Amino acid sequence: MELLDLLKKRHSTRQFLNEYALSEEEKEKIKEASSFLPSAMHRYPLKGLLYENKARIAEILERKGQKSIGDCSALFVIYGDSNIQPNMGFLQEEAGAMAENILLMATSLSLASCWLGVHENTPFLEDLEKIRDEENLASNLLPLVAIALGKEK
Ligand SMILES: Cc1cc2nc3c(=O)[nH]c(=O)nc-3n(C[C@H](O)[C@H](O)[C@H](O)COP(=O)(O)O)c2cc1C
Repeated sequence: MELLDLLKKRHSTRQFLNEYALSEEEKEKIKEASSFLPSAMHRYPLKGLLYENKARIAEILERKGQKSIGDCSALFVIYGDSNIQPNMGFLQEEAGAMAENILLMATSLSLASCWLGVHENTPFLEDLEKIRDEENLASNLLPLVAIALGKEK
């Protein structure tokens, strides 16, 4: 598909098919899409995590006040390493670039997506920190963006 068509087709979905699981090929392509990015000072401080624990995702989205999105198949969470890039502005800008890559890759795979903003002092931020710790990722990784992925209902 032409890039412009892909950009026009992408939209936020908030109703997902609960029973859909991402295929291995879809997961690989999503991860691959996250790795082609510009990076300030060539530092590459971002870490993407494809998180598929459906029960936890449902809980987290209910706590966020967006229960219907909890039916998605996975969350792609973007963390920023503040040791590698201490400039928070650059971390957030780079996370936005990675997020758009994921959204467009998802659209090209006929998957639905929704960008989920991460704000300070929210249960959502705390939940993404808990996921980071449970997945044994470094504690200086800051949750910057999450993207719900799955099939549109
Ligand atoms: C920084 C950012 C944060 C967002 N956070 C949320 C969110 O927490 N929940 C949600 O349902 N949509 C969220 N969105 C999606 C926007 O609501 C959506 O992109 C906007 O309404 C335009 O609609 P479209 O994506 O269908 O073009 C977010 C989008 C951005 C760029």
